[in-house]
Amino acid sequence: MKRWILFVSLLILAVPVVGSAESQERKGQRLFAGCVKKVDDKATLKTGQFVCKGDRDPAPFGGNGRACGDCHVPGDNFGISTKRIASLRRNNPFFFPGLDEDQKLLRTHGLVHVIVPGSIDEFRQTPKLVHLQSLCDKRGNCDALGLNADRVTNLCAFSIQAISNHMAKTVKRVPGKDFRVPTEKECKWLVAYMVSDLVADQDERNR
Ligand code: HEC
Repeated sequence: MKRWILFVSLLILAVPVVGSAESQERKGQRLFAGCVKKVDDKATLKTGQFVCKGDRDPAPFGGNGRACGDCHVPGDNFGISTKRIASLRRNNPFFFPGLDEDQKLLRTHGLVHVIVPGSIDEFRQTPKLVHLQSLCDKRGNCDALGLNADRVTNLCAFSIQAISNHMAKTVKRVPGKDFRVPTEKECKWLVAYMVSDLVADQDERNR
């Protein structure tokens, strides 16, 4: 009898601990959105743009203030429409004035400066990400990435390039100075998020 009581009490104690553990995909979502704590699902769904519960990280990955989610917006299938761009305030991190962005192209067509040293230096639109779950395996190895399928095909490697490309403070893009390279764990979380239902189905609707 006593053992039985002990077992039940342990179970009652354990459930909230297990239940409150943040999943890898949720951790990735927080990094992607640039939220210090959690993403506010309801407000995000309502506005179509990431809203944090609590503070937003002023410099995600130690960079210029942009977060992945400023360009890959949940309400636009994780791309960004010209209609939404037109509705953004001038001081929105999307319009970061450095990194040789062409502000006119950015505002009117949503064209972002993409640089891969030695191969790409052009203005490209932000693609949606809802298809990544079918394009990539759970480890983040994908069939092809980039406008012309001309980019690295691993989502972790791509994320590091994305931070250096779009989130660095200066065009020098010095790791450790202009931005911070994500840790192995953080990269894993970003990948878990991008191939999850949260992105494929914009699943915060159901939570
Ligand atoms: C300034 C806007 C901007 C930010 C910030 C940004 N991206 Fe992107 N993203 C783009 C653009 C533009 C492309 C297209 C690149 C190309 O075609 O080579 C892209 C492409 C991608 C792709 C490839 C999708 C496909 O199917 O080809 C992935 C994955 C991605 N971004 C993830 C991220 C992650 C993760 C972050 C944050 C660490 C991030 N992006 C930050 C604009 C942005």
